[in-house]
Amino acid sequence: MEDNTDGIDSNQNDDSQEDHSQEIGSSPAAGASIDAWKDALSSRSTAVPEKTIVPSAQAHIIKPNVTRRTFVKGTFWTGFGVTLLGFVGIFLDFFWPRGVEKFAGPYPAGNVNDFKPGAAPIRFKAAQTWIVNLDPSDTSEVGGEGKSGYLALWQKCPHLGCAVPWRGGFNFNDADGWFRCPCHGSTYTKAGKIVFGPAPRSMDTFALTVDAQGNLTVHTDQVTPGSDDNASRAKTLDELNEMT
Ligand code: FES
Repeated sequence: MEDNTDGIDSNQNDDSQEDHSQEIGSSPAAGASIDAWKDALSSRSTAVPEKTIVPSAQAHIIKPNVTRRTFVKGTFWTGFGVTLLGFVGIFLDFFWPRGVEKFAGPYPAGNVNDFKPGAAPIRFKAAQTWIVNLDPSDTSEVGGEGKSGYLALWQKCPHLGCAVPWRGGFNFNDADGWFRCPCHGSTYTKAGKIVFGPAPRSMDTFALTVDAQGNLTVHTDQVTPGSDDNASRAKTLDELNEMT
């Protein structure tokens, strides 16, 4: 009985499928097109077979030309080189002799009438020189030492080379007017004689000449190291004219 029933049901299902086919297509040609349509659908499957490598733009591995190690090393050495160049530049800037070749030589230093005996020294910046006219009435304590005449003093402090200014209002040993170095306090008389401070000697002096019109020339290429006899190097106008 059951078999019959199944047979009946299967027959009925077959009949219903046939009926359905007949509903979709009304001809054999239409049935063929349906089969083709089913094949097309099945061919559009997106299922990926196992162990299949799917090419993908994101999965593409770009091999870098520069490795991380090379990049880090390059950055380090570049930074090191730039820093080293900076130090070399600072070193050269500090020690490069500026204008030294122009300094050594003759420089005009005013006229003898510009310097009154016992007056404050006058500075000639390009020559790095102080010109003084010693007054014989000046005491030996402040530099006169009984001498008179013109004296050219190098402004460079014999201690560490600072430029020494004249300080007319500076009082020392109960007297006003001294050369006093701003760096370490070395103090000199008007003749450049050391009286106080760490400087190893008195201020150096330059040779001095005068022409027929009384114009002075300081020769910065003729240096005499300073000493206690600085004042005795001063020359009167007559002495300067005899040297011409
Ligand atoms: S440089 Fe002048 S006292 Fe030191």
